Amino acid sequence: MKTLTITRPDDWHTHVRNGAILQTVLPHTAAQFARAIIMPNLKPPVTTVAHALAYREEILQAVPTGANFTPLMTLYLTAATTVETIKAAAECEHVYAFKLYPAGATTNSDAGVADVTTIYPLLAAMEKYELPLLLHGEVTDESCDIFDRERVFIDRHLTAITRDFPDLRVVLEHVTTREAVQFVEAAGANVAATITPQHLLFNRNAMLAGGIRPHYYCLPILKRETHRQALIKAATSGSAKFFLGTDSAPHITHTKENACGCAGCYSAFGALELYAEAFEQADALDKLEGFASFYGADFYRLPRNTDTVTLQKSPWTVPAVYGEITPLKAGENLSWKLISA
Ligand code: NCD
Ligand code: ZN
Ligand code: ZN
Repeated sequence: MKTLTITRPDDWHTHVRNGAILQTVLPHTAAQFARAIIMPNLKPPVTTVAHALAYREEILQAVPTGANFTPLMTLYLTAATTVETIKAAAECEHVYAFKLYPAGATTNSDAGVADVTTIYPLLAAMEKYELPLLLHGEVTDESCDIFDRERVFIDRHLTAITRDFPDLRVVLEHVTTREAVQFVEAAGANVAATITPQHLLFNRNAMLAGGIRPHYYCLPILKRETHRQALIKAATSGSAKFFLGTDSAPHITHTKENACGCAGCYSAFGALELYAEAFEQADALDKLEGFASFYGADFYRLPRNTDTVTLQKSPWTVPAVYGEITPLKAGENLSWKLISA
């Protein structure tokens, strides 16, 4: 039977929530990944080092016995964040980055930043203390078409940020467009991007053709096929600027199957399997290890993992639910299965 063994990967963008959902999803992430960048968009958001450390403890409590998993914490930027907070974060060995949510752009982003230019002193401090800026890169302008919001964010804000802070390390999270890929490719080595499994596997037809499928709804929203092709090309190019970030974003089923459904796809249960599917379709399984296990660690200046995981080509059916969460591809087949980790 066909197998694939790679260095153990890390997830450079995930949502594990807290409370009951954390208990359901954290074992999935810990079974696949050695480390994960934990998004701070809880209610209330994780804005201080103290909150991040308390949240880290809650996550560690949920790690199954025997699993070896390290959560890498991030802080949520708000209008009230101070330069002192940036300094405290830089001094804390468990905090790895700051996350910028344009206010109103996505799930639990209300406390985010309304005008990026108002936080320039914070970006200067992050550049000085060498803490990466992680971006949900979409404008929130009501007049901007939802399919254009990432491209317009790059033109309106990201171009200026990278020009004004040339040494700031920036990750454009969950890129979804050809324009984002081109921007990251043209930028310096300090600018990188994560790519999700859903944006590699699906275009917007999966969400909207033949019926509306809320479990394919995430932000930034799935785009047309030409953009998916650009993402596949970037992920399988061997460029160290593009690395794995699932953006696994669990929501209780009824909050997605709803007249106003939440944004986010749950993928942590089978993250590597989903990526393997996408890389195999592109005939680029040999490029999976760099994307999943090397480039993110290099960007965050962390050692690469030394143990391995093995996937086997043996089809299985994704369950209808995990606890109260409907996973991506529920009830459908995946061709790879993680067999040892
Ligand atoms: C994420 C979530 O649910 O927290 N949702 C999503 O659609 N991606 C937030 C985010 O990463 O934008
Ligand atoms: Zn986001
Ligand atoms: Zn996310």
